[in-house]
Amino acid sequence: IQVTVIDREGVEHVLEAPTDMNMNIMELCKSYELPVLGTCGGMAMCASCQIYVENDKVSLERNDDEQAMLDEAWYVEDNSRLGCQIHLAPEHDGLVVRLAPSDD
Ligand code: FES
Repeated sequence: IQVTVIDREGVEHVLEAPTDMNMNIMELCKSYELPVLGTCGGMAMCASCQIYVENDKVSLERNDDEQAMLDEAWYVEDNSRLGCQIHLAPEHDGLVVRLAPSDD
């Protein structure tokens, strides 16, 4: 599938993403060397993988751990999700996300 990631400079990156590896969006971004830290390794405990969902290719519904983390995070918008909590699946083809600001 293809996933478009808009970086913090507004540049669009169209990424080829596998759906058979249980890969999440944080890992996908890192594999393309986009500036996503993923400090906690995908445990929903750091929010460094926060992204904004820019179209309807993924649900805005957050899981409980994700919601708890976003309750404490900065720059949270209605369309915020944690990239590590979105596992790439066929229905995500055409997804567009934008990286949230980073303090680093
Ligand atoms: Fe830490 Fe996603 S990598 S919350």
